[in-house]
Amino acid sequence: MKVTIFGAGYVGLSFAACLAGAGHEVLCADADLARIEGLQRGLMPLHEPGLEALVASGIAAGTLRFTADERGACAHGDLLFIVVNTPADAQGRVDLRHVIAVAAAIGRHRDRDALVVCKSTAPVGTAAQVEAVLAGEFAQRGARHRIAVAVNPEFLREGSAVRDCRQPDRVVIGSEDPWAVELLTRLYAPFIQDPQRQLLVMDRRSAELAKYAANAMLAARISFMNEMARVAELAGADIEAVRRGIGADRRIGPDFLQAGVGYGGSCLAKDVRALVHAAERGGHSLRILAAVEATNYEQKGRLFDLMTHHFSGRMAGKTVAVWGLAFKPDTDDMRDAPSLVLLQRLWAAGARVRAYDPAAMPNARSIVGERDDVHWCAAAHEALQGADALALVTEWEELRRPDFVRIACELNAPPVIFDGRNLYDDAQVESAGIAYYGIGRGRSSLRPR
Ligand SMILES: NC(=O)c1ccc[n+]([C@@H]2O[C@H](COP(=O)([O-])OP(=O)(O)OC[C@H]3O[C@@H](n4cnc5c(N)ncnc54)[C@H](O)[C@@H]3O)[C@@H](O)[C@H]2O)c1
Repeated sequence: MKVTIFGAGYVGLSFAACLAGAGHEVLCADADLARIEGLQRGLMPLHEPGLEALVASGIAAGTLRFTADERGACAHGDLLFIVVNTPADAQGRVDLRHVIAVAAAIGRHRDRDALVVCKSTAPVGTAAQVEAVLAGEFAQRGARHRIAVAVNPEFLREGSAVRDCRQPDRVVIGSEDPWAVELLTRLYAPFIQDPQRQLLVMDRRSAELAKYAANAMLAARISFMNEMARVAELAGADIEAVRRGIGADRRIGPDFLQAGVGYGGSCLAKDVRALVHAAERGGHSLRILAAVEATNYEQKGRLFDLMTHHFSGRMAGKTVAVWGLAFKPDTDDMRDAPSLVLLQRLWAAGARVRAYDPAAMPNARSIVGERDDVHWCAAAHEALQGADALALVTEWEELRRPDFVRIACELNAPPVIFDGRNLYDDAQVESAGIAYYGIGRGRSSLRPR
């Protein structure tokens, strides 16, 4: 099938490459000319495992092309996907300017029938708004083509976007138009093993809300576990044992129960804020999600609080090695990353940072800018040189099994690790002579020193 994807970001590019890999003829358009020119030369604008090879094979097979030409993009696809960014401000108001810009462009240029699909995460009622924009543009130039607008929210996770695209738990199709449902069902056929279970067809408003509800639920699980971690600290219990204890319950399940430094990334916080805002506008106060956000905000400062406790408030002049900057492993995405909160707190307290991340360092540097109190390190162990403490912030595979005896030698004495992901075995760390703090690991973290 012929498909146009508007937006070559984390979602749009992954989705485009996966569709092309399945044999669809995909044209991926972006308003960022430099991004498109780079992609045309094979330069990846982002880090996502397996994506570079998939893009290269799509280009080589002729099934994946990139363009900045709006008119050509509007002409190409039988299905036209809107996959542009939908940021939300601090109050949760979603900026739909990019979504509307794409809808207006399609309305201006399209000269045959079209199925327009909203994949961007956007508030309930956005598809209707897109439809109104298209209808307005068509009316203005007397165009009479058939247009359907469907909702198809995306549930992929950065870091495993390719796998999630190709093996989705479910595909939500928000449309009551049989033509739209048929086209989307055919498009997704290569990725669907069990249509009864995986293809969920519903009305547009429910599909729009399902995306927000999913992210709100995920955020709630994380904040719940971070609250439980605090209780575990107070009670002298280990949150990791508690997690196993509840995750084995089939009604709960083991995923998204990890206590840590709080959730980050471009989606969870923004979508929770947007949902709270939308509910408030409708006259309902979403108290549970306001608490989820508040807990997460506090949790992002947790590693710094533990450090302050350990160093008895004397952070000025300390040097801290930070392993991992990206909001999660296998991505270079720094949007809303908890590491940024730690860095800012350390700097505000007069500490210095030696930072290392396998992929996110260029993005991190462009966010924080050049400063004297940060040293960007080319390797994990380089970050330890002359540092008083190690903070593990992102659980990259290469940071999972370090040599603790070597760390003990490289850190200034007495060495200490602050493990923001409960990645390490506290007993193993301590047997190397290193003090250990995790999140909610009551046995060691708040033990008086
Ligand atoms: N990143 C995720 O993990 C994830 C997961 C599920 C859903 N989503 C949602 O998907 C959407 C896209 O997210 P993303 O992370 O890929 O964003 P992104 O910022 O990585 O990419 C968006 C792209 O859209 C382009 N764009 C903006 N206006 C355009 C226009 N008028 N025409 C063509 N291109 C335009 C931008 O230049 C950018 O390259 C958002 O609504 C997001 O909430 C994201």
